[in-house]
Amino acid sequence: MELTAALRGQTIQNRVREVGINPNHWYPVAWAHQLPPGRVIPVVVWQQSIAVYRDTAGQVHAIEDACPHKGVELHLGEVHGDRLVCPYHGWEFDRSGQCVHIPYFPPDQKLPCATALSYPAQERYGIIWVFPGDPQLADSRPILEVPEYDDHNCLMIPITGVFNAHFSICNENTMDVFHGFLHKDLQGWFDPVLLNLQDSNSSVQANYRVSYKGTLSKFLGLSTNSDGVTTRNVSVHYQYPHYHSTMEGVSSLYLMRLPVGPNQTRSFSLLFLPKVRLPKWLLRAIKPVLVPLVLRFIFMPFLEQDVGMMESEQRTYQKDAKRRYVEVNPAIIALQRLILRQYEQFMQQSSQSNPANPASQPPFESWQDQSSNSSIEPLTVPHSGKGQ
Ligand code: FES
Ligand SMILES: [Fe+2]
Repeated sequence: MELTAALRGQTIQNRVREVGINPNHWYPVAWAHQLPPGRVIPVVVWQQSIAVYRDTAGQVHAIEDACPHKGVELHLGEVHGDRLVCPYHGWEFDRSGQCVHIPYFPPDQKLPCATALSYPAQERYGIIWVFPGDPQLADSRPILEVPEYDDHNCLMIPITGVFNAHFSICNENTMDVFHGFLHKDLQGWFDPVLLNLQDSNSSVQANYRVSYKGTLSKFLGLSTNSDGVTTRNVSVHYQYPHYHSTMEGVSSLYLMRLPVGPNQTRSFSLLFLPKVRLPKWLLRAIKPVLVPLVLRFIFMPFLEQDVGMMESEQRTYQKDAKRRYVEVNPAIIALQRLILRQYEQFMQQSSQSNPANPASQPPFESWQDQSSNSSIEPLTVPHSGKGQ
C-alpha cells in the first residue's frame, strides 16, 4: 500500500528493539573467499552457533556448532572429504549432521544415534548464505537478486560492517536518508525530501530526493562541476531482511544483513558504481588497488560515523529499555512495523506447528515483561487511499 510521505511526530515503542528475526530467510554469514576448501569457520545467526565448512570438492555445508557427543564446538575440528570431524574423540559427521564414523569403534559395531542440526547453505554473489529456519522452506525463499554482479565492467566494492547494535537500529539507519546532517563534513547529501513511500507484508520502499555538491559528487559522476549542486532521486528498498538502495544510475547498494544477537549485527554489502566503467582488463588490473582506496577514503568515513550513531542509540536503549522516542519519518515507522510483523508471523506459525518449539518462546525477558501489551501498536500514518 502507498503511504503518504508527510513528516509528523509519532511516539514509538521500543518493542522493535526486542524482537528476534524471522529465520525463514537466507542470511549472509561470510565472504566466500574466507572459506577455502577444507576449512571450517564459526558463525552466529541470531544466537545460533553454526559451523560452516567447505568440503574438499568445494561444496558449502552448515551444521550446529556443538558436537552431539560432549558439546565441543565443531568449528575447532577438521574437514575430511565432505565430513566434519570433531577434534576431541574424532567422531565424524556428514553434511546432514549425522555421526557416520567413530574411530575407536570396531567396524561392525553399530553407531549411536547422534546428530547435529544441519542448515541449508549455499554460495552466491561471493557470499556464503545460511537458512536458519525451517529447511523445507529454503528452496521457496529466494535470495535478493543482484543483476550487476555479473557485469564485469562495473566497479564492485564489497563492504563489511560490524555494529554493536540490534538489527532494527541498523536497518533504520539505512532507511533514514534524513541523517545527511551527520555526514556534512564529508560532503554528504543535503536537503532531503521524502517523495513517496510504499509498503507490503515483506517490504518497504521509500523514494527520496537529495542534493549533493563538492568533489566527492564529481568523483561519483553526480555532477560535472565540483562547485555545482546536483539533485538526484534515491530509492531505498527494504525487502525483509535485506536492502537494495539506488541513486539514479549512479550507485546501487545491496546490503545483506546478519543479525547476530540482541546487540550485535553484521552486514555484507556490495556497492556497484556503474558510472566508473572501465574495460574489463583495465578494471581487473587496477581493482586490487582501487577498491581498498575507494573503501578507505570515501566510504569507510561515512560508515564509521554511522556506526558511532547506531552504537550510541543502543547504549541509551540498554540504560533504559522503557524510554519512549519520537519519530517523524513515516519510512522508519513502516520499517519498524514490518520488522515486528515478520517476527510475530514467524512466532505464530512456529507455535501453531510446534507449541513446544523453543524458537516460539520470547527471545528476551523484557519481551515477557510487556506481554500484556504484545500486539503491534496501531500507527497513525495516514493512507493515501490507494490500496494494492
Ligand atoms: S566431544 Fe566430539 S567426539 Fe567427543
Ligand atoms: Fe549514514
